[in-house]
Amino acid sequence: MSIDFDYKGVPHTLDPWSASRGRYDSMVYRRVGNSGLILPAISLGLWYNFGDNRPFDIQREVLRHAFDKGITHFDLANNYGPPHGSAEENFGRMMWPGPQGQLGSRNYLLSSLDDSLRRLSIDYVDIFYSHRFDPVTPLDETVGALASAVRSGKARYVGISSYSAQHTAEAKAIADRTGISLVIHQPSYNLLNRWIESGLTDALRSAGMGAISFSALAQGLLTDRYATEDAADIDRATSRPTLPAATLTDGILAKIRGLKTVADARGQSLAQMALAWVLRDPVVASTLIGASSVAQLDENIGALNNLDFSTAELTSIDEYATEAGVDLWRSSSEL
Ligand SMILES: NC(=O)c1ccc[n+]([C@@H]2O[C@H](COP(=O)([O-])OP(=O)(O)OC[C@H]3O[C@@H](n4cnc5c(N)ncnc54)[C@H](OP(=O)(O)O)[C@@H]3O)[C@@H](O)[C@H]2O)c1
Repeated sequence: MSIDFDYKGVPHTLDPWSASRGRYDSMVYRRVGNSGLILPAISLGLWYNFGDNRPFDIQREVLRHAFDKGITHFDLANNYGPPHGSAEENFGRMMWPGPQGQLGSRNYLLSSLDDSLRRLSIDYVDIFYSHRFDPVTPLDETVGALASAVRSGKARYVGISSYSAQHTAEAKAIADRTGISLVIHQPSYNLLNRWIESGLTDALRSAGMGAISFSALAQGLLTDRYATEDAADIDRATSRPTLPAATLTDGILAKIRGLKTVADARGQSLAQMALAWVLRDPVVASTLIGASSVAQLDENIGALNNLDFSTAELTSIDEYATEAGVDLWRSSSEL
């Protein structure tokens, strides 16, 4: 067995791994808006579970399994970890995907892109996002920086994340004037957080853009374990400052349990139904998922076995799928 050292000086065994030959056979791939960008219906995000706080072997097992299942899109950002940057470094040690930034100045965006490319050890990303609308920086500057990323060859496509419907339309108009294609929006969206239905999905449709949702499981709340176990007994892989224990009120628990009854009747787990539900509108081309184990990943990919909803099912879901205040991003000045 040979021993290799990565650029941090950490020894690891050279482990020749070949991806499964049939990896594209069972995944569903969808077009983003009117663009040429094609994404798997389920994409994997590395917000938590892939920093230096988790065993490297488990991370690699989950990532390889995802790739073998046809997941070709992985979502990273310069601040994912913990610590910041470590998710990109770890991913760069085993694969090759695409990052994001925060704030909207030309300097911040383009230097964060360069830093991400260096950490990932790659020359370009498939999609580069403006992570948040920046109320201070002129939108022309932010979109201009996205244009520079495309023109320099460091990004193939560009998008925005958590922009309101109005700012999305403005960003798209600037991008059109600049001659670049703004193709994708990454919003939070789940059964307990439906803000995008109040204008954003229509704005995306009329702009010919598509969406990729994040926190579709409400950071893990929309899963069988919260419907069936006492919250105090649930062992999470990482503690999430973005999901304080107080989030889970009795009211939210009642919604989760109600939604599980609908999922049971569909023969799906709650996580599977939650993922299928965000994909029911074709404007949502893909949904990101988080996963800390291969078992979670497999369960979530199983959502693809039933993506259709009857009118009666949607009506039952609507009884419980009402705004629950679980989304921290909603409280930002942008939303
Ligand atoms: N653009 C933005 O501003 C933004 C913001 C947030 C997130 N994101 C992206 O979206 C991705 C997903 O976000 P998220 O982590 O909030 O997603 P999520 O899918 O809502 O939650 C993922 C967590 O739920 C739990 N889980 C997943 N599948 C499960 C299952 N089948 N059964 C039981 N528990 C399950 C796991 O918790 P345990 O780890 O405890 O097992 C997992 O870490 C991120 O990685 C990131 O790429 C983007």
